[in-house]
Amino acid sequence: MTLAEYIAARQRRVDRALDLCVPAETENPSIIHRAMRYSLFAGGKRVRPVLAIAAADAVCDQAEGVEEAACVLELIHTYSLIHDDLPALDNDDLRRGRPTCHKVFGEAIAILAGDALLTRAFEVLSKLERVDADRRIQLVRELATASGTVGGMIGGQVNDLEGEGKHPTAELLESIHRAKTGALLRASVRIGAIYAGASDRQLQALTRYGEHIGLAFQIVDDVLDVEQPSAALGKTAGKDAQQHKITFPAVYGIERSREMAEQERRNAHAALKPFGERGEWLRQLADFIVRRSA
Ligand code: IPE
Ligand code: IPE
Ligand code: MG
Ligand code: MG
Ligand code: MG
Repeated sequence: MTLAEYIAARQRRVDRALDLCVPAETENPSIIHRAMRYSLFAGGKRVRPVLAIAAADAVCDQAEGVEEAACVLELIHTYSLIHDDLPALDNDDLRRGRPTCHKVFGEAIAILAGDALLTRAFEVLSKLERVDADRRIQLVRELATASGTVGGMIGGQVNDLEGEGKHPTAELLESIHRAKTGALLRASVRIGAIYAGASDRQLQALTRYGEHIGLAFQIVDDVLDVEQPSAALGKTAGKDAQQHKITFPAVYGIERSREMAEQERRNAHAALKPFGERGEWLRQLADFIVRRSA
């Protein structure tokens, strides 16, 4: 199986699970369900849920139902993108190759669609049938912490916004990136591993892997914002420089940023050592994250 086939098969499982866990468009009030589905099924890469399933694959042969736990990462991620694009935040018109949620449904519904995806994620975790209550609580805690204000996605978004126009320092940069993007990627790997019943040692190794790919992911996102056209990205290119964001290229330049992402990739590989052959898909996913072009 090639990596592309491995990813495509898991994306299909995730998309089925997502379809089941969000109310139909016809369900009242229809507009909110249309807005949620509009953004959710706009063609994201599904990197976070695929990582969660791959982490479970590294731990055991058959973690049945893991795609349901994995899909909560996409619910949170999509909510964060809808809100990230709002006029009060990054003010973007294009996302996943389509007009942003607020452009189509208006700001009020876009805000509520984000809120609804967030809320639904925790409801889904609370209802997981194949793991016991202790594990469900552990998963809820992982997701809440990674999405929260202290070292989590929201905290990182606040620092990102407050950093606009500020002198970009290396410390500020790393703390923004680890929080706004790294935390959810780290949690993706951990959620898959916890669901699959990872040992403490396995979880520790996978956590280190998640931290390295988490940082690498946002370094590459920043580099692509400079290097790729909007058509390739499916979102507005060149926004970071325009908004004076604190990014890796702004602090280190493109070439050094690429080298740093490469170093994170190597560190991610090293973290997978204890898994031997079983870590192969995660190794290839780290390569994909660093070498992708969108
Ligand atoms: C973009 O994430 C936003 C960041 C956190 C860097 P992705 O590159 O995973 O976006 P989609 O899900 O594929 O659209
Ligand atoms: C967003 O970072 C991270 C989130 C928590 C959504 P960016 O603002 O760099 O994401 P893009 O480039 O708009 O996708
Ligand atoms: Mg942003
Ligand atoms: Mg943005
Ligand atoms: Mg970006």
